[in-house]
Amino acid sequence: MDDIILDKKRVLVRVDFNSPMDPSGNILDDKRVKSHLETLRALEDSRVVLMAHQSRAGKKDFTTLEAHAKLASKQLRRDIVYVDDIFGSHARDMIKSLEPGEMLLLENTRFYAEENMNRSPADHAKSHMVKRLAPLFDLFINDAFAVSHRSHLSVVGFTEVLPSIAGILMDKEIDALDKGLQGNEHPTVFALGGTKADDSIKVTQNVLNRGGADRVLTSGVVAMVFMMAAGMEVGETNRKFVADQEYLDQIPIAAQLLKDYSGKIAIPKDVALDKQGDRIETGIDKLPDDLAIADIGLETIVDYCKELKEAKVTVLNGSAGIFEKEKFKLGTAELLKAATQSGYSIAGGGHTVAAIEQLGLEPKFSHVSIGGGASITYLSGDPLPGIEALKKAAERYRKASQKA
Ligand code: 3PG
Ligand code: MG
Repeated sequence: MDDIILDKKRVLVRVDFNSPMDPSGNILDDKRVKSHLETLRALEDSRVVLMAHQSRAGKKDFTTLEAHAKLASKQLRRDIVYVDDIFGSHARDMIKSLEPGEMLLLENTRFYAEENMNRSPADHAKSHMVKRLAPLFDLFINDAFAVSHRSHLSVVGFTEVLPSIAGILMDKEIDALDKGLQGNEHPTVFALGGTKADDSIKVTQNVLNRGGADRVLTSGVVAMVFMMAAGMEVGETNRKFVADQEYLDQIPIAAQLLKDYSGKIAIPKDVALDKQGDRIETGIDKLPDDLAIADIGLETIVDYCKELKEAKVTVLNGSAGIFEKEKFKLGTAELLKAATQSGYSIAGGGHTVAAIEQLGLEPKFSHVSIGGGASITYLSGDPLPGIEALKKAAERYRKASQKA
């Protein structure tokens, strides 16, 4: 955004305002809206139209963006006018009459069915929505990192036909996550937990394969899968849990990783079991059949924390244990605290952010990602359609300016 004159320009901006809402339509968490303020401030003298989504069809909080416009206006201390239309004549008339310094928020893009189709940028560009809206703009900005793992119309469709750039938040997310992935600073330590073992295993594979991480510390359900891959006896309850989550097919993948990257993947040396709500510390030689693993154990916490504190770069994603239960939040809390003492600390979005906020650690992290699925996809090394579309648009622009 720094390289382009934005004043007076007609700018279409994709933001991610998707927020938890209560049944009466109040936004419960202002973080997503707030995350775009810097971008919006940089567009003070442009004619700005914002596109955003809220939830998905069929869900209770699938609703209009009126509350989002109000909240964003309050945060920005500027009027952001909500338009209950996406690309009909009402919306287009409003867009055409915009003066520099004025800002509109269009209706929830997911009200338009084609928005939700995972199509290529070229196919989305043929939609009525792009055909009707694109001619009204000079520039498209994608600032919606958190939804850029979806090849949705408003994310990728406009990049085919309009000069397109990344917004400030998008830039920040990419810079920070790249710092975790590049592995330029040693040690770089990843701590991966949570319930999505398949995602975490993909991240492990990617960061070790590209030399991004010196160590991957496993916890949560991903640690259970690695324990089973290492031939440990996790007991019937935990085995069944892994099977029910459909992660049995991850075990051979984890076993191969342990073989290929020996010494780089840490498995907990002890765990905390949930015995009718009590925290039972135990080694992992042979776990009982009837008790569930609910956290990493005290010795593991001490070891992992030491590695995190001494690291140059740390990347954390997912909880180490059941954070919602008071007795089993210890692992997650300690690992998060330790990471903030490393040289540069990065936290993935989603549940990790909720834990960070509850512990009041947000200001201590170098970067907390606003995207859940998007940041895990990025760390897995999979391309994000929204970012790829921007790159393609930049390439097209470069070629055109070389010819000129
Ligand atoms: C999110 O909150 O995960 C993003 O806004 C994307 O929304 P989605 O997961 O419903 O596609
Ligand atoms: Mg999501």
